[in-house]
Amino acid sequence: MKENRKQMSLDNVSTILINCRQWGDTGKGKFVDILADWADIIVRGTGGDNAGHTICCDEKELVTHLIPSGILRDSENKINIIGSGVVLYPRTLILEMKQLRDQGLTYNNLKIALNAKLITPAEILLDRIKESVAGIGKIGSTGKGIGPAYADFVSRQGLLVNDLLNPIFFEEKMKKHLDHQKRVLLNYDHKLIKEIMMHQHLECGLYYDAESIFNFDAICDKYLEYGRELKPYITDTDFFVKSQLGLKKILGEGAQGDLLSIKHGSYPYVTSSDCSAAGLAEGMGLEKKDINLSLGIVKGFYMTRVGHGPFPTELGGEKSEQVCNSGFMNSNQEFLLYGKASINDPDEFTQSVALRQAGKEYGATTGRPRRVGWLDLPLLRYTLGFNEKDIIFTKLDVLNDFDTIKVCNEYVYEGPTYHLGSEHQIKKGDHIRVALPAAEVLRWCKPVYTVFPGWKCDLSDCSEYEDLPQELRDVIDFIVRETQIRPRIISIGADRNQTIYV
Ligand code: IMP
Repeated sequence: MKENRKQMSLDNVSTILINCRQWGDTGKGKFVDILADWADIIVRGTGGDNAGHTICCDEKELVTHLIPSGILRDSENKINIIGSGVVLYPRTLILEMKQLRDQGLTYNNLKIALNAKLITPAEILLDRIKESVAGIGKIGSTGKGIGPAYADFVSRQGLLVNDLLNPIFFEEKMKKHLDHQKRVLLNYDHKLIKEIMMHQHLECGLYYDAESIFNFDAICDKYLEYGRELKPYITDTDFFVKSQLGLKKILGEGAQGDLLSIKHGSYPYVTSSDCSAAGLAEGMGLEKKDINLSLGIVKGFYMTRVGHGPFPTELGGEKSEQVCNSGFMNSNQEFLLYGKASINDPDEFTQSVALRQAGKEYGATTGRPRRVGWLDLPLLRYTLGFNEKDIIFTKLDVLNDFDTIKVCNEYVYEGPTYHLGSEHQIKKGDHIRVALPAAEVLRWCKPVYTVFPGWKCDLSDCSEYEDLPQELRDVIDFIVRETQIRPRIISIGADRNQTIYV
């Protein structure tokens, strides 16, 4: 591949956010890693270890869940921060630190927000129970306790990271917290509770007590031990980040994506943080007005979704959703079952398997197969309503072999009349160009596609925008015309060099 001559101009830019305009898993890690070269400070601001970022660097592949992906770049001089908007499970962080040490990487400049929210064993248990018992709001959560931890924070039942440093207060708070949780858990089958508490993620039963569900002493001992290990890194990061505005280059690393945001996403099939750019800024200790450049990531030209929830352009429809959510499939099992699927097979389900295989669309956190489908412009237009228009297209090489590429430009609504406030209604047969993210509306939306010929060639020799095949540029031109986005970067492979600046 030729050396790419062009770079992104970042004159007068000192704060950048990167987050995803879809349902997550769009390949943020690569760009956080690239921009980490530019940044002095890299901050995670939302979510927890439900996220998983795969970063490839110098032939190393690293999956991080909590530590910003920037940790691979000169961590001696750069500061990586887990911000106050994050929910933190100490075990995951301690294991991640060990992984870094094992790879010979340092994290001396890691900072952890003293007011990040602590995930407790009770919250993980409750999250997993909700996913196991039919009829109580199964949405396909990652089972990491994210929803209950944010809910406990808002309902004043939660603990914060700083509590780990104050054993007397910690024990008081943990006792109150567990007493409350035990009352909530009384209604559930004890056998199921025990089974969940034995999970490796919950330290294989260490926190379990047959009589009172939770072994209070074991929980306090372990958490306070983690607290001693994390102490050197815990600080007021909100104050620190704000104080560095204009002095240092700050990069905010999103988790999940706009369509999973509790505030903007396809509710209730969302995560529990506001993972939009505004939510990210807040979780870093900043405001949206402090941000100079907000980059949104979009897969070129497809989408993925993990867990339940409507997905109008899903390839393979309900069958695909069921297979992906069946809970027992990983990439190897899928390969054994379906073999190497052909991307141009007339059957949509087979196409979905092929696209998943080509894009390696299996969860970095759970290993679950991701549901896949075509790029949806009504949803993109919706997210652009509360975002800047600068876009990074990722993973374009994944579609190299497709005969045709479909882009959903609008929907036809096929459901019962839906009232939106007193002034608007959506009726059967209406054409929709800007999606309404409400799950009950989305599931009645049938996509209308514009079809393009595929480019059917390898992109590895492209290093400038002009090198890209005309067929591919035609799709980008169409998306630009239809949504007014500004494409800034096009990614044609996992490697840093496989990046084209527009
Ligand atoms: P939770 O965040 O674990 O509570 O999961 C809520 C929903 O968000 C589920 O549908 C998850 O599959 C989805 N989700 C959470 N984190 C990610 C992510 O990093 N990528 C994609 N989907 C996610």
